[in-house]
Amino acid sequence: MKGIVLAGGIGSRLFPLTKATNKTLLPIGRFPMIYYPIMNMKQCGITEIMIVTNQLHIGDFASVFGSGSEYGVHIVYAVQEKALGIVDALKEARDFSYGDSMMLFLGDCIFEKPIHYFHTAYVQKQNGKGARVLLYEVPDPERFGVATIEGDLITEIEEKPKYPKSNFAVVGAYLYDQTAWDKIPHITPSARGEYEITSLNNMYIQERSMQYDVVQGKWFDAGTFQTLLDAGSVMMEVYDNSQKDL
Ligand code: DAU
Repeated sequence: MKGIVLAGGIGSRLFPLTKATNKTLLPIGRFPMIYYPIMNMKQCGITEIMIVTNQLHIGDFASVFGSGSEYGVHIVYAVQEKALGIVDALKEARDFSYGDSMMLFLGDCIFEKPIHYFHTAYVQKQNGKGARVLLYEVPDPERFGVATIEGDLITEIEEKPKYPKSNFAVVGAYLYDQTAWDKIPHITPSARGEYEITSLNNMYIQERSMQYDVVQGKWFDAGTFQTLLDAGSVMMEVYDNSQKDL
């Protein structure tokens, strides 16, 4: 399985913090934000990782991680030229992960606890086929992709619906088999002009091949000032001063 972390976009919700650097390089506790997705992947045994970012910031990521060898992973980099959506950024990873399954992470997706249960369930219950997502109950689901569930299956995801059908937000960590690459070329831009991850997810849902886990512990979408602060104080406790690195 390959790992892909998305760190494109301009982070306008966090201006001026993101005027000179990428959102995912801002501090969360003792580490830059993007350390956490990389650490989550490594804990799942995924060591072949691609970071997709924009042209402006690619050098900063290379300065932080280099080849990844210092962290026990192998990292390569790709550029998304325009922020046209999550699936548009993912397209840059096609050659890297073609023929293999993948764990996709949005770079601002922070988990308090390891997520190996998610990876294990995909391998053991789904034989590494179809797709699997993580759900988290939130008070404000209209800000997220919102899932409707039926037993083990997800039957619908709506992107930022005005009238959400549940409180289950789909968080920014996804598992897909290689059929994602057959589906992605059929995705067209949404009303807001983006290639949406929810469009890809709904293609798996149509095949009745998307299952889920509920997040264990806390989850943060660290894309606002408040969640940046909240995630920072929680992760500061999780990884105290005794932890030197990933
Ligand atoms: O946080 C979970 C939510 O993330 C999901 O519930 C939604 O279904 C999903 O669409 C997404 O919503 P956001 O509004 O939070 O997505 P955002 O546009 O903030 O993009 C999330 C990350 O993806 C961003 O931090 C960097 C990366 N990204 C985004 C875009 C639009 C890229 O790398 N390239 C892009 O063009």
